Amino acid sequence: MEITVRVNGVPQTRDVEPRLLLTHFLRDELRLTGTHWGCDTTNCGACVVRLDGVPVKSCTVLAVMADGASVDTVEGLAHGAELDPVQEGFVTCHGLQCGFCTPGMLMTTRALLDRDPDPSPATIREAISGQICRCTGYENIVRSVRWAAERTQAEQQSEVAP
Ligand code: FES
Ligand code: FES
Repeated sequence: MEITVRVNGVPQTRDVEPRLLLTHFLRDELRLTGTHWGCDTTNCGACVVRLDGVPVKSCTVLAVMADGASVDTVEGLAHGAELDPVQEGFVTCHGLQCGFCTPGMLMTTRALLDRDPDPSPATIREAISGQICRCTGYENIVRSVRWAAERTQAEQQSEVAP
């Protein structure tokens, strides 16, 4: 069936099988391979994208369920050459090693900061509790998200300062 999904702001129309998963729609149909495919069983969180702003595990969503919706992937996180603060935080605080979990972590934590700009470490850990990282031990991921939150707040304060 034909579906149209707005992916990173661009409408994408494809004829897909009803059983096609959103992960495979993104990776195989659109060649957006930044969304990783790990377990295929809703466990690892490497496949997280935002569906109408809400982080979802795209291996658990059929592509047809996204018909008419907006999907944001890690490819759309930066603004041109300017990295999102979450991306900067992961680089600065060494929030990744192999990087396999990173796209999902970035999309989940971007959604967290959009709804809670100043999350505690406990809140961050709860937000990423559906993501598995085999490398970092999570400490640096939590630091990365806190760095992004503090950087965003500092930028906002400098914008309103006289
Ligand atoms: S591939 Fe979707 S949760 Fe692991
Ligand atoms: S950085 Fe390797 S799995 Fe997270």
